[in-house]
Amino acid sequence: QPQELLPPPERFAPRQVPTLPSLTDPDVLHSLRQSLHQWHDHRWRAGASNDQPRPRHSPADGRELGEVFLADADTVHQAYAQAREAFVDWRHRPVPERADIVRRFAGLLEQHQSELLYLLMLEGGKTFADAFADWREAHDFCGYYAQQAETLQGTPLVLEHVSGEANQLTWHARGVFLCISPWNFPLAIFCGQVLAALVSGNTVLAKPASDTPFIAWRAVQLLHEAGVPEAALHFVGGEASQISDALLNDSALAGVAVTGSTATAKHIERALAARDGPLLPLIAETGGLNVLIADSSALSEQLVRDVLTSACTSAGQRCSALRVLLVEDTLLDRLLPKLEGAMASLKMGHPALLASDVGPVINAGARDQLEQARAGLRRHARWSAVTPEVDPALGAQGFYVAPEAALVDWEHLPEEEIFGPLLYIAAWRHDERDKVIDYIERTGYGLTLGIHSRIQAHIDDWVERVRVGNLYINRNQIGAVPGCQPFGGERLSGTGFKAGGPHYLMRFCTERVTTENL
Ligand code: ALA
Repeated sequence: QPQELLPPPERFAPRQVPTLPSLTDPDVLHSLRQSLHQWHDHRWRAGASNDQPRPRHSPADGRELGEVFLADADTVHQAYAQAREAFVDWRHRPVPERADIVRRFAGLLEQHQSELLYLLMLEGGKTFADAFADWREAHDFCGYYAQQAETLQGTPLVLEHVSGEANQLTWHARGVFLCISPWNFPLAIFCGQVLAALVSGNTVLAKPASDTPFIAWRAVQLLHEAGVPEAALHFVGGEASQISDALLNDSALAGVAVTGSTATAKHIERALAARDGPLLPLIAETGGLNVLIADSSALSEQLVRDVLTSACTSAGQRCSALRVLLVEDTLLDRLLPKLEGAMASLKMGHPALLASDVGPVINAGARDQLEQARAGLRRHARWSAVTPEVDPALGAQGFYVAPEAALVDWEHLPEEEIFGPLLYIAAWRHDERDKVIDYIERTGYGLTLGIHSRIQAHIDDWVERVRVGNLYINRNQIGAVPGCQPFGGERLSGTGFKAGGPHYLMRFCTERVTTENL
């Protein structure tokens, strides 16, 4: 039996979902207008610095959303100095007090739900369903991390001892954390990192993705309203590598949590290794080149549904998303016609319309890279299926990339993560199961893996041999729920521990053992 480090959560209920707001409901629209009005002249404004504000536009339709101030070096250093001072008080607050602030924040997420969903759709380009999933994950993190902190830091772990001596282990906050979050979950991952650091007693400089500052800014305001002291949590807009370089060079930062590209995480890892001073933890969640393996016993209807969900939800912009479908050759005849029909029936459109299945990608650069990858995919395709293009008027304003799936030879499978709704398919013969494992190993990534099979021996063999963080059997491979499916990869995909898991907060803490001679 594995040792249980923490007891099972008591108060945590990840599936409690509040009622969905309707964007056509007059009350919802009214409260949205009110909240926009309270901001800045009906436009969002994020950050504060001596720098000039930069305008930001929606990836969905190009409308100007507002303006953001990027943090200059002075602003970053002032924020750091305040956070270091605030640490002295914040770390000594009783853990139930910090946990209650986090629970109050969950209440504010509910209270401001429609405004946050609206921001996620317009700023993040998320469809309503994707925006809601993002919001719900942020909400789940609150309950889960509040409960985890109370368990981890509330009671010392009493250890074995010799007679006349007492040993106990306790978990302590480290100091000021730099949290760098991505644009693809601008609320959930932003909140997940920040909440984990804060609830365990650290103070935080939060650096949101440059493409999604407003949602992060709003979350920071609500965290302050919930009771996090302003000096303990700072919004710092700007480039991740510039901000981390500025802080790592001349501050006593306590650790870095980064979710983003493998390249950004490696940049920070090198900077951490090069600096003088204490050894710091790096908590990195990065990319994946995620595979789904299907053998001839897979149910083709279910497989098509799960492939579409895994590859095209969030316009393929999830690190968990399916990129490469490896199918036993005898399944192809049943699979491809169904997949073609399903791809054709997906509706790409403005994310704020409830009918849209797929919204835009995040920016023009992402769209151009994906179109370039599509041209390569088409050159090698032996079969392909594509989703209808978006209305040209909308396509001229936003950044839309039609989902496409194509069958290629093995040598044309990708070696790097392609972050969008392009799906590569290759076929294997029944005596080529090792080839599948070899491909996954060769990519170097280890994030998600899907397996569709009704043959238990095949499932067991693949589960035993692959090195990935999250395996999904006979279902889709996205949408990990905090507490139920702790999420994170290995090798090029991240350092662990898993977000939304029982060990995540430990990475934000130091472990201390006290031995007393009685
Ligand atoms: N945690 C996100 C998912 O599982 C990335 O889809």
